[in-house]
Amino acid sequence: MSPRAAIPRFLALHEAILSTLGQRVPTILVPGNHDRRRWGLMGPQRDELFDELKSAVDPSEIFVAGCATPFLAQLVPAGFHRLPAHVIAYDSTFLPTGLLSAGGMIRQEDLLQVMAPLSAEEPPLPLVLLMHHHLIPTPVTDMSQIDSRAMPWLGRWLVSRALPWLVSNADREEMTMTALGAGTALSTLHALRRPTLVLHGTSIFPPRGSCMAFRRTRAMSSSLLLEAAAVASGSMRAAARNRRGFGHRTISSSSITAR
Ligand SMILES: [Fe+2]
Repeated sequence: MSPRAAIPRFLALHEAILSTLGQRVPTILVPGNHDRRRWGLMGPQRDELFDELKSAVDPSEIFVAGCATPFLAQLVPAGFHRLPAHVIAYDSTFLPTGLLSAGGMIRQEDLLQVMAPLSAEEPPLPLVLLMHHHLIPTPVTDMSQIDSRAMPWLGRWLVSRALPWLVSNADREEMTMTALGAGTALSTLHALRRPTLVLHGTSIFPPRGSCMAFRRTRAMSSSLLLEAAAVASGSMRAAARNRRGFGHRTISSSSITAR
């Protein structure tokens, strides 16, 4: 979808969500693979949509991440989100090379760079990390094939025939949609010693309401909560209308709770 078609639709959806919530709340946008690549899969990476979104929205209401390449992690100003936590928006979609992939990249350097200037509070303030890709690949349970129905015949042939011929199981969605470095990021987040909530966009299996908790393994590490924040689909507008699909998380200056 072109930015010209997508941006008004996004702004209308955003207004529908806010009117359902009944108040103006700050919104943070992070790019997903479908914002960067054709069908979410075919390169090259395209940055126009998010660049144009950034100049189209009201920056006092919507923080558009993903426009600071080569820096992939951005600290969202505390005055914008007003939460008792540090909020980081991470652009996990950066893939400068490769014709076919729905995956991305999560670099430890970016996480450390964005965390470095933060003061060492005691107890440490929680961390909320927003990104599109999930940190736990699920190739064992999610066996679904890449949906190529909307592609022209060459794309369908490439995805369903050529790809699995070249690389085993490469026609399976999960094999192409993992962000490189996700495991390292998981270890890094544990080492940062802050209660951490990771909200990601890519659905994992089972696709709805997915939430994984990782308790700290040592006294000096932190506990993580990984959660699928949203499944982008045609049902989003309906969900916005009848409030279904909204979760509630409580963030205090020392903890994060989910119910
Ligand atoms: Fe995705």
